[in-house]
Amino acid sequence: MNERAASPEPSIAGLDLDALWLPFTHNRLFKREPRIVVEGTGMYYTTGDGRRILDGLSGLWCCNAGHRHPKIVEAVVQQLGRLDYSPPFQTMHDKGFELATALAALAPGDLDHVFFANSGSEAVDTALKIALAYHRARGEAGRFRFIGRAKGYHGVGFGGITVGGMVNNRKAYASALLPGVDHLPHTHDLEHMAFSRGMPTWGAHLANELENIVQLHDASTIAAVIIEPMQGSAGVIVPPVGYLERIREICDRYGILLIFDEVITGFGRLGHFFAAERFGVTPDIITFAKGVNSGMVPLGGAIVRKSIHDAFMQGPEHLVELFHGYTYSGHPLACAAGLAALEVYHSEDLMARARKLEPYLEAAIHSLKGEPHVIDVRNLGLAAAIELSPRPGGATKRAMEVFHWCFDHGAMVRYTGDIIAIGPATVAQHTEIDRIVELIRAALRVTP
Ligand SMILES: Cc1ncc(COP(=O)(O)O)c(C=O)c1O
Repeated sequence: MNERAASPEPSIAGLDLDALWLPFTHNRLFKREPRIVVEGTGMYYTTGDGRRILDGLSGLWCCNAGHRHPKIVEAVVQQLGRLDYSPPFQTMHDKGFELATALAALAPGDLDHVFFANSGSEAVDTALKIALAYHRARGEAGRFRFIGRAKGYHGVGFGGITVGGMVNNRKAYASALLPGVDHLPHTHDLEHMAFSRGMPTWGAHLANELENIVQLHDASTIAAVIIEPMQGSAGVIVPPVGYLERIREICDRYGILLIFDEVITGFGRLGHFFAAERFGVTPDIITFAKGVNSGMVPLGGAIVRKSIHDAFMQGPEHLVELFHGYTYSGHPLACAAGLAALEVYHSEDLMARARKLEPYLEAAIHSLKGEPHVIDVRNLGLAAAIELSPRPGGATKRAMEVFHWCFDHGAMVRYTGDIIAIGPATVAQHTEIDRIVELIRAALRVTP
């Protein structure tokens, strides 16, 4: 078992676990063997029973500058001493404008207007609504369809689960999914791309399916295509070389908006502020959340092209242009944290740091090829996945056991289906990457 920290604080003895219903969790099993975290600093958590846990997942792909970076903490505390909250409807605080300006400057091309939400799910809803309303504002209200992608994850709103492509997130709600949505095929193909390092060279042609979907529905009915440039939640599915370019070309040909859901891929995960920059493909709308403020305070949003924003700014000036928004759109604490996080990313050169770490992580994670049950290893930026063969009659159990074993022995990883995923923060040390990988290796060797 992992070493104990000097003074576990606060104590979790006597904590009542009953009332809390945890999201995306096997609650009954969890409550029999809870994993309770009480502190986070840099790359480490401390658990309620005083153990240090190396964070192999940057929180949940969000604490990209590590936990409780002192400069971000200080900015939040300072903001709290000045303004707790002001409504974003018809008034706004200074930090909201400052952060929007900073994000617009970082975003590629002419994506220069930012609409704030509080989470990735809300960011996605926001982007989908903007896409529909944009076409309507231009007199093309017939463009009502969205095209998502199999295995896509776009959060848990009804819009997000509809364009998403994960069956378990959809099946219980099938009666309430949005009408008219279609899906591209995913690009996960072990026969052609197992153990690819970085971007697979096979699979660009899978983008051509968008042509077929357009022919089926007619372009005049399609508002937008929404994809994660690299699929994160489904288990780090890296886009084939040339794939995103082709999707962009087809969207352009038919006047279809392209939305990149960058909730995971933004702010350092792929070594840049946006994956769009890394891939050299500029979408019309980017959704973001998570790493924008290193996970410190909930914040998300959509960044849109100038032409999209301007299409709304045509009618009488006293009328609201977009009937959408949240009480906490651009909360002062979240924006203060965002500004500080961007400053940290710049001043500590964390995008470049992530790019330098990438080959190290790649070599480390691919050393797991040949370990028991491993049928694929893949990686891009600071994201990697190990896919396991399912245990006969017990799909997902192997990966779950690896996850539990790693936590018990001092590292947080993630599992989804039979895939183990890791996503260390941009501040990770080589020794920490080694440790995460060695714990996964050890777990694989003891997992039946
Ligand atoms: C690509 C993508 N979109 C949306 C979301 C949803 O974000 P949230 O959980 O903040 O609602 C996620 C979460 O992981 C995500 O990966």
